[in-house]
Amino acid sequence: MAPKATTMLHLLLFAVPFLSQLLPFSSLALTQDFCVANLHLPDTPSGYPCKPKALVTADDFHSSALAQPGPTVAPFNTSLASANVNQYPALNGLGISATRVDIHPGGVVPLHSHPEASELLFVLEGNLSAGFVSAGTNVAYVKTVGKGEMFVFPQGLLHFQYNLGNTTAVAFAAYSSPNPALQIADYAMFGSSLTVDVVNKVTFIKKEEIMSLKRFFGPSAVPS
Ligand SMILES: *[C@@H]1O[C@H](CO)[C@@H](O)[C@H](O)[C@H]1NC(C)=O
Ligand SMILES: *[C@@H]1O[C@H](CO)[C@@H](O)[C@H](O)[C@H]1NC(C)=O
Ligand SMILES: *[C@@H]1O[C@H](CO)[C@@H](O)[C@H](O)[C@H]1NC(C)=O
Repeated sequence: MAPKATTMLHLLLFAVPFLSQLLPFSSLALTQDFCVANLHLPDTPSGYPCKPKALVTADDFHSSALAQPGPTVAPFNTSLASANVNQYPALNGLGISATRVDIHPGGVVPLHSHPEASELLFVLEGNLSAGFVSAGTNVAYVKTVGKGEMFVFPQGLLHFQYNLGNTTAVAFAAYSSPNPALQIADYAMFGSSLTVDVVNKVTFIKKEEIMSLKRFFGPSAVPS
């Protein structure tokens, strides 16, 4: 065996058992039926370590996180309630999560993406305009989505929704990840610590407009 290959083999022999201790999911699919997150330990690229199974009860699998509208995100006039692994630890490792979106009249879920998940939007009340823009070709796919209807946003693509009606529209979104992550284009550009000069340079938007939008959005973290 070439010296390089031997080193690789040693590295594997050493690293695999070590990594499987650290990363619960590498073994989850093979040896565990579930892995309720232990949120006291740090998240890893493959999820949270498991709460000891002896301590898991039926309550862990139940959640009322979406029973009420979430807090309203002011500039968007939209209430967001999340049921991802941080609110609902049983989702750890299951590849699913959900959000409740209550879009008030005039409200919008602005252009954003979920780097980690595709999203299936199901409208319970009202009429929304929902759409996304494809990668590469930048084709916009936009539809009115009414009560009982669905729209799907492919993973990672920039997408939006807004209310077309005069009453609050209610929708539930399901994601193909326990932690879909959220990046809102407005916050990335105008709520981040990027300077006006840099935003102007990289977006071609006029500096006066950038300053006005920075005042509007403020220094903002993405809502969780
Ligand atoms: C925000 O929603 C409230 C409550 O439904 C509504 O009365 C108001 O007109 C909306 N504001 C804007 C700016 O759309
Ligand atoms: C949604 O749109 C349909 C078709 O235009 C309309 O009949 C219905 O009243 C709308 N619903 C609401 C809540 O605005
Ligand atoms: C919303 O209310 C306005 C003003 O009353 C009305 O003109 C409009 O048709 C309404 N839109 C819908 C979708 O009901």
